[in-house]
Amino acid sequence: MSTTLITGGTVVSATGRALADVLIDGEKIVAVLAPGSELLGTDLTASVDTVIDATGKYVIPGGIDAHTHMQLPFGGTFASDTFETGTRAAAWGGTTSIVDFAVQTYGTKVPDGLAKWHELAAGNCAIDYGFHQIIGGVDDESLAFLPTLIDEGITSFKMFMAYPGVFYSDDAQILKSMQVAADTGLLTMMHAENGPVIDVLAEQLAESGKTSPYYHGIARAWQAEEEATHRAIMLSHITGAPLYVVHVSAKQAVEQLAMARDKGQNVFGETCPQYLYMSLEEHLGATSEQWGDFEGAKYVCSTPIRSRAEGHQDHMWQALRTNDLQMVSTDHCPFCMTDQKTLGLGDFRKIPNGIGSVEHRMDLMYQGVVTGEITLERWVELTSTTPARMFGMYGKKGVIQPGADGDVVIYDPNGHTSIGLGKTHHMNMDHSAWEGFEVDGHVDTVISKGKVIVDDNQYLGRKGDGSFIKRGLSQYLV
Ligand code: URP
Ligand code: ZN
Ligand code: ZN
Ligand code: ZN
Repeated sequence: MSTTLITGGTVVSATGRALADVLIDGEKIVAVLAPGSELLGTDLTASVDTVIDATGKYVIPGGIDAHTHMQLPFGGTFASDTFETGTRAAAWGGTTSIVDFAVQTYGTKVPDGLAKWHELAAGNCAIDYGFHQIIGGVDDESLAFLPTLIDEGITSFKMFMAYPGVFYSDDAQILKSMQVAADTGLLTMMHAENGPVIDVLAEQLAESGKTSPYYHGIARAWQAEEEATHRAIMLSHITGAPLYVVHVSAKQAVEQLAMARDKGQNVFGETCPQYLYMSLEEHLGATSEQWGDFEGAKYVCSTPIRSRAEGHQDHMWQALRTNDLQMVSTDHCPFCMTDQKTLGLGDFRKIPNGIGSVEHRMDLMYQGVVTGEITLERWVELTSTTPARMFGMYGKKGVIQPGADGDVVIYDPNGHTSIGLGKTHHMNMDHSAWEGFEVDGHVDTVISKGKVIVDDNQYLGRKGDGSFIKRGLSQYLV
C-alpha cells in the first residue's frame, strides 16, 4: 500500500473551493488538510511515498460519466470502443468512473444480457464501472427480474420510447415497469422521443429524396421529444416512480421537466456536450471534401443535435445553471466513418446513432467555466458529484473527503487542450466529432483508487485496474 500527498492545489467540491492538501493511503482518501499540515508531529512530505505538487491547479473528484455505450449493438454493427479502449480514453480525459448500459433486446432475457455485459467488462477496464440495465422487452419475466437487480448493484434501468422494433416500449409496458420502480426504489431512465412518429416522418423524408444526415435532425423533431418527455412525466406521476430523462436536447423538453419539478415531482434530466456545442446547421448540415454532405453522419445521434436558430444550445446552458437539468453525461456511443457510419450512405435512417465523447466531457464542460456559463463548483457538481448521488455511489465516489475512493484529477486551468486534432484522441474511432475544438484547460494527472494512471501526457495504468461498482439506491431522492 502506498501513500500519496497532493500538495498546494485548490480542492474544488460542488459547494466550494479551498487551498488544501489531500492524503491518499492505498485506495482511499484519508485526510484533507490545511496546506503544509503536519500529522501527529510528522512532516507529511517527508513520510509519504509520493508527493504531487498541484500548486496553481484544481484538485477535483474524478469525473463520473453515467451514460456510456461500450460495444452497444446498433444498426447492424457495434459501438467501436470496447471496455478496454473506451475506459482508457475516459481516463485520459479525467473520468475515473463510467456507468454503462447492459442490454436486453426484444426476445432475449435480462439476466443473459447482464451476464454478457459483466463478461465484456470484467478484467478489461482502466477505471471503475457500473451498469444500468436496458429493458428492451417488457414482459412478465423481465418485470419479475427487475427487483433482483438491486442486489446486483444495478439500481437503475433505461427504457426507450423510440426505436420501434429494437428497444421500444409502449406506454403500457412503461407504466408496468414504473410501477415496479415505485415499489422497489429502482430509478427509471427514459429515452424520451416519440419513435413511431419519428419513423413515419423519416420514411416520408427518405422517400422524397431527402436522404442526407441533415434530415435525421428534421425527422427527429423537437415536438417528438417534448411530447414523449411530457408523457413520461405523466406516467411517472401516475405511478409515483421518479424519472430521469437521458440526453435532453430540446428546450421544450427542458420546459416540461422544469414545470413538473416546480409542481414538486421527482423528475430529473441530463444533457450531453454535443447539445451544448453542436447544431443542426453547422454539424448535421456540414459538408466536406472527403464526404460531401455525408460529413454530417459524424454528428448523427439521438436525440439529435438541434437548430441554433431555435436557441436550444443556449437553453441547455441556462438549464444547467438553474438546475432544471442536473447532470452532464456523454451518451458515448462511437462509430467509425469508413465502415460503420457509411452503412447509411444514401439513407440517413441507416446511419448508426451515436457520437464518441467519453474522453472530452471534463474538458468540454470546463470550457463552460472559462466562458462564464457555469461556476467552477457547478462543473464539479454536474460531472462528478451529482452523478454519484443520482446513481447511488456518493461518499465512495464524487467527493474528496476521508473515506472516499482515491479518485482524483489534477486539472491545470493554465493548460490547453486541442481536442482530437489530427487523431490525438484515444477513443477507438477513425475521426472525432470534436476535432478542432480548443479548450483552455488540461487534465494533468489522473488518480484512480490511489494509483496514478495518467500523468504528464502519459498513460500509466493497465487494463483490469478498474472494478465493478455495486451501486446503492439513488441518494438524490428523499
Ligand atoms: O445516438 C445515440 N444516443 N445512441 C445510443 C443509444 C441511445 O439512444 O442512447
Ligand atoms: Zn437513448
Ligand atoms: Zn445512450
Ligand atoms: Zn498542464
